[in-house]
Amino acid sequence: MKQDTDVLLDEKRVFKPSEEILKLANIKDWEAEIEKGKDIEKYWAEKAEQFVWFKKPEKTLDESNKPFYKWFVNGKINMAYNAVDRWIDTDKRNQVAILYVNERGHEKKMTYYELYREVNKFANALKNLGVKKGDRVSTYLPMCTELIVTLLACTKIGAVHSVVYSGLSVGAFVERINDAEAKILITADGTFRRGKIIDLKKVSDEAILQCPTIETVVVVKHTGIPIEMSELSGREIFYETLIEGEPAECEAEEMDAEDPLFLLFTSGSTGKPKGVLHSTAGYMVGTATTLKNAFNIHDGDLWWCTGDIGWITGHSYLLYGPLLLGTTTLVYEGAPDYPDPGAWWKIVEKYGVTKLYTAPTAIRHLMRFGNKYTKIYNLSSLKVLGTVGEPINPEAWMWLYENVGKENCPIIDTWWQTETGMFMIAPLPVTPLKPGSATKALPGVDADVVDENGNSVPPGKGGMLVIKKPWPSMFRTLYKDEKKYVDNYWKDIPGCVYTAGDIARKDKDGYFWIQGRSDDVLKIAGHRIGTSEVESAFVSYPAVVEAAVIGKSDPIKGEVIKAFVILKEGYELKTKLIEDLSKHVRYELGPVAVLGQIKQVDSLPKTRSGKILRRVLRARDRGEDVGDISTLEE
Ligand code: WTA
Repeated sequence: MKQDTDVLLDEKRVFKPSEEILKLANIKDWEAEIEKGKDIEKYWAEKAEQFVWFKKPEKTLDESNKPFYKWFVNGKINMAYNAVDRWIDTDKRNQVAILYVNERGHEKKMTYYELYREVNKFANALKNLGVKKGDRVSTYLPMCTELIVTLLACTKIGAVHSVVYSGLSVGAFVERINDAEAKILITADGTFRRGKIIDLKKVSDEAILQCPTIETVVVVKHTGIPIEMSELSGREIFYETLIEGEPAECEAEEMDAEDPLFLLFTSGSTGKPKGVLHSTAGYMVGTATTLKNAFNIHDGDLWWCTGDIGWITGHSYLLYGPLLLGTTTLVYEGAPDYPDPGAWWKIVEKYGVTKLYTAPTAIRHLMRFGNKYTKIYNLSSLKVLGTVGEPINPEAWMWLYENVGKENCPIIDTWWQTETGMFMIAPLPVTPLKPGSATKALPGVDADVVDENGNSVPPGKGGMLVIKKPWPSMFRTLYKDEKKYVDNYWKDIPGCVYTAGDIARKDKDGYFWIQGRSDDVLKIAGHRIGTSEVESAFVSYPAVVEAAVIGKSDPIKGEVIKAFVILKEGYELKTKLIEDLSKHVRYELGPVAVLGQIKQVDSLPKTRSGKILRRVLRARDRGEDVGDISTLEE
């Protein structure tokens, strides 16, 4: 939710850690740890020692070709080995690694040893399908154990995974798979959502016709609904059939620290979604360390990240971070309020969740039901709570703090991005908290708020949120577009500084207050969606000549889409057309693109060079001053 930072900066409440939190904390002195983190090379080199390396790195950071930084130079390592194999020879062998639960109350537990065997089987199966190191493998899967197995199997053999979120639809799917040039697709019959089964195979069948690089489609029987398999033998095969008889051992590929680990597409301010490329060792070190520090992960924790694996949150903090720390990670498939708004709290009580990481939009949604459901269930197992995706408004923060955490759990508001791979600005459990602020950069991270010359702005003044020093889990490039990587992120400020695309302020205590995006990227229920993608979806509908899209604030979702459309002559925006247009946009992009309002217009504000001035539309919509419109040609 866009918040009024002026009001926020007046937020006077400060919540200090309790004795119990201090006692349990992995890091007891926040300021001292930040101090330690200032020597980034030393700090991160030390953190890298917790992993099993096939060959130790020769150097921690190579800055010779900025902004193409290299971390843990010439180190050899494997992700799946560190996330799974490593635990097999320890006490964790028979500990539950993945606890899968769905909205129907079904559960499935997989121990580290079971996970190890299944990952190996599937890794062997992928090899049999001709998948080699560096090949791209895409998934279009619901939250299920097979998704985790698939991703780990890819990393075990050095294949690069590229997950397509199952809430995206045909248009978005095709674009992502084709850009990744994926060889294999793993999908499922369907997914459970609000008492229904959503047919994923149908979407994938339709999309795949436009994806020429896909050689084989692997289908997971997840919901058990009847589906049609392709006639072409060999092209489509069931997951179960594929792994049957495969050996449960598979050698981990020795990967260079800098070898690509995965691709994940995310929206930018212009054009198509960008393929954010992460590499192996730095990502491991960054995600595991930040999770351990910010959430105080210990043996015996039951970690629950409610975010979908289809987004970076799920990659870093449902899958990799927790498994790298040998934690039990809970995978939930379903809606937060189905069969009733107590669904999540029931799970917390039943399984004894200790750390819960979720999104402000979900909190705002559940807040509407008051404290009835949080009272029915015993939530005393919870020790730390956290949020991500957008600024958390103080009301939602307080609701979470009082009703879920019972005033005993610190709220870890984590600011980060697909590109950063790991939490960047976030408190530690011992940090004095202010509702609505992500507090300060984590140890080992150098964040600031600056003006266009790169100078720090004084407290209370708005500016661009930047990262001044490299960090291990930073993305390495945009897939097949190095120029865009440099131009989009590293050029705005002199001196090779990373610009995040967010506006922020710092208060007099140095706490960050993130205000929102400075570009044309929307945050709908925490999901990142580019205005230009939505506009393309509109324009691909025959009756639409031109479209412009802005975000409209929404009390639950933070933002929803408001579209201005110019229609072909003879068309009028009546109920039927609104319905058809909504359906079309949903078909192209999926349910993430939540439409708030469509408005028919005769013209759109543009610059002389023909660029749509969305800021003018935004200002007019909010009844604000439109500012400098000297370039406006309407
Ligand atoms: C926003 C999600 C305020 C921000 C991990 C950022 C936040 C974008 C927060 C990245 C937060 C994320 N407070 N804003 N705690 N966390 N954002 O790539 O605008 O889906 O640039 O990554 O989300 O979204 P992405």
